[in-house]
Amino acid sequence: MLWGGRFNKQLSEKAFKFNESLSIDKKLYEEDIKGSIAHAKMLKKQNIITEIQADNIIKGLNEILSDIQNNKYQIEESEDIHSFVESKLISKIGDDAKRLHTARSRNDQVALDMKMYVRKRINETIFNIESLVKVLLKIKNENKETIMPGFTHMQKAQPITLALHIRAYVEMFNRDKSRLLDTNKRLNECPLGACALAGTVYNIDRDFVAKELGFDKATENTMDSVSDRDYLIEYIFDLSIIMMHLSRFCEEIIMWNSNEYRFINISDEYSTGSSIMPQKKNPDIAELIRGKTGNCYGSLISLLTIMKSLPLAYNKDMQEDKINSLYTIDDVNDCIILMSDMLDTATFNKKQMEKSCLSGFINATDVADYLTKKNIPFRDAHKMVGELVLYCEKNNKNLNDLTLEEYNKICDNKVENDIYNEISLISSVKNRKSKGAAFSS
Ligand code: ARG
Repeated sequence: MLWGGRFNKQLSEKAFKFNESLSIDKKLYEEDIKGSIAHAKMLKKQNIITEIQADNIIKGLNEILSDIQNNKYQIEESEDIHSFVESKLISKIGDDAKRLHTARSRNDQVALDMKMYVRKRINETIFNIESLVKVLLKIKNENKETIMPGFTHMQKAQPITLALHIRAYVEMFNRDKSRLLDTNKRLNECPLGACALAGTVYNIDRDFVAKELGFDKATENTMDSVSDRDYLIEYIFDLSIIMMHLSRFCEEIIMWNSNEYRFINISDEYSTGSSIMPQKKNPDIAELIRGKTGNCYGSLISLLTIMKSLPLAYNKDMQEDKINSLYTIDDVNDCIILMSDMLDTATFNKKQMEKSCLSGFINATDVADYLTKKNIPFRDAHKMVGELVLYCEKNNKNLNDLTLEEYNKICDNKVENDIYNEISLISSVKNRKSKGAAFSS
């Protein structure tokens, strides 16, 4: 135990279990050890401990790191990862180990570990997002001419290309990446040396430690250093937006994979069957990603609520920052990877997508635009096409099937033979050349 002196009795078994965080923060072992090594180097440089003591400590810490990596022992039987590493070090190298905690507290230590861990995972998320974007760009490039219906209100609106649809997600994920980069920039200040809350009487060099550990600088205020979890909240917020984007896409994939749409075939590798209905091939992966979005939002709300109203500086409430968020970080990264794999192996039914454009009066806007070009004000043209659609519905026709005579009864004799080409599917898509559209010039 780390605080023997003041106490007469041991913590009760129940209270120990309730108080411990090792079962979760053992994930931070690498950061904890690397942070301690940098701290020991600084203590040596500043002559706070001797060279021999520091070298012993550093050697011992490196051994502990490789022992853990080689599964030599389990991380267990301590309150948290900081006390675990310290007690291992004491049993490995003896008394020198007891000097490591000079000019440090677990409060700045855990702040450091969490920052380093979040920074590492943000970089991993950026990599995963980049891989997903690569898959999307491949699909986009293969489908520049694949025509499909574009929807608003879940109703067929205007024909688009699959490339345009996919590119929308590229935009979203690129924004997600820039948000992650931004979070990492703000995060990158080293809290070590803030100690419990007020700094230390030793002549430490915080900038040296910051540099050793790849931070841009040391944090400015010791109180803030130990009580700041903004960076974690920001990361989980960034992940929440990623999940929101993934869940929107998954929802579409689930619909497109259904018998009603048949726009996409999810590969067998990413589908499951039903135990009772032999015909079924279910999009479980997409559904799970959609569902896990709820857990991620839950983590965000939990963190915001834990931090709400906390007085300065460190409070034990903050230990609860890990339980949901560390799980969420794993989960969301898995979601991004699985989404990439699922999309990379899926196939698109181009014929079915195009066929779907033939119903639903998807070229109604093109008829209105045609009439507008023939000098009918757009508002009047819109009304005329509304009447045409009503006429078609009554007579079970498509806009393309109407004769010139039928058109001109409603359209002031403005319709000529060129209409059929203007309102064809391909013209409808290709004529939209405005910036950001499928065929923008
Ligand atoms: N396990 C603690 C946490 O995760 C580490 C900091 C403990 N500090 C303390 N003063 N008890 O927040």
